Amino acid sequence: MPSRPTIAVTRWIPDEALKVLREAGEVTVSREDRPLTRDELHEFVAGASAVVGMLHDRLDGGLAAAAGPGLRVVSTVAVGYDNIDVPALTGRGVVVTNTPGVLTDATADLAFGLLLAVTRRLGEGERLLRGRTPWSFHLGFLLGSGLQGKTLGVVGLGQIGQAVARRARGFGMEIAYSGRRRADAGVERALGARHLPVDELLATADVVSLHCPLTPDTHHLIDAAALRSMKRAAFLVNTTRGPVVDESALADALEAGEIAGAALDVFEKEPEIEARLLDRNDVVLTPHLGSATVETRTAMAVLAARNVASVLAGNGPLTEVPA
Ligand code: DGY
Repeated sequence: MPSRPTIAVTRWIPDEALKVLREAGEVTVSREDRPLTRDELHEFVAGASAVVGMLHDRLDGGLAAAAGPGLRVVSTVAVGYDNIDVPALTGRGVVVTNTPGVLTDATADLAFGLLLAVTRRLGEGERLLRGRTPWSFHLGFLLGSGLQGKTLGVVGLGQIGQAVARRARGFGMEIAYSGRRRADAGVERALGARHLPVDELLATADVVSLHCPLTPDTHHLIDAAALRSMKRAAFLVNTTRGPVVDESALADALEAGEIAGAALDVFEKEPEIEARLLDRNDVVLTPHLGSATVETRTAMAVLAARNVASVLAGNGPLTEVPA
């Protein structure tokens, strides 16, 4: 009997996904409750036909060399794939897959939750109560900023950006967006969205929400100059990838009152966070929770597993990363 393919999973995944993988091959899951170091990762994948990884794994030519010539598929349990050297893998004939679509609503919900939290000062209010600080209702107490009639500036009107814009429409916001490509006319119409160059978008928006992928072009897209060009009453929300924002420049801008606040789910040097942000009341911070619902994480892992099973069965990937 031909030997079954071996599948290396770099961190815990839900049982539903493990079941799919176990039908496709012999599965080994890392027992560490932390990301593997580069050396550990390379040792762990030796001889694997498939690797299921996630955003903290560097999935590149070194990984392919460590796995050996039998490696057929690298499947990340994420929509973002800035941690993957796609040409290095595909150049060796390895299929690379991700998990688009299934996390759109969960991530948009979180982005909008952050938007509400920072504009309505929810973190600040909660900290006040937990700090047992005496308080009483009065008309000027902890006033935030309303959303009705304000402009949401979406950077990157892909699936998640559109889903955030739909939520914002429900709150009476106007939508402007920027991105490499103009959205379809139907999408623009449905969202009432106007396309602006990014510098105009930053100068116009009352809330800027980032939904572009991390690429060399978007690294530090929000730098000191970009922050200075925003309205002083504007807020920044980042649920995409930390390095899209220059975190130190953001702390400077907040200290200088150049923008009104920021809500961040992702960080430049995750899991580390620029220390000056941790102490600020005008900043809301969450630990990369964009897709963190039971339903969504299960759907992501199952899709990643089904990609592996499909490739190993010779049927090709279901959701291959764009070349
Ligand atoms: C994604 O899907 O890219 C999320 O950030 C989780 O990794």
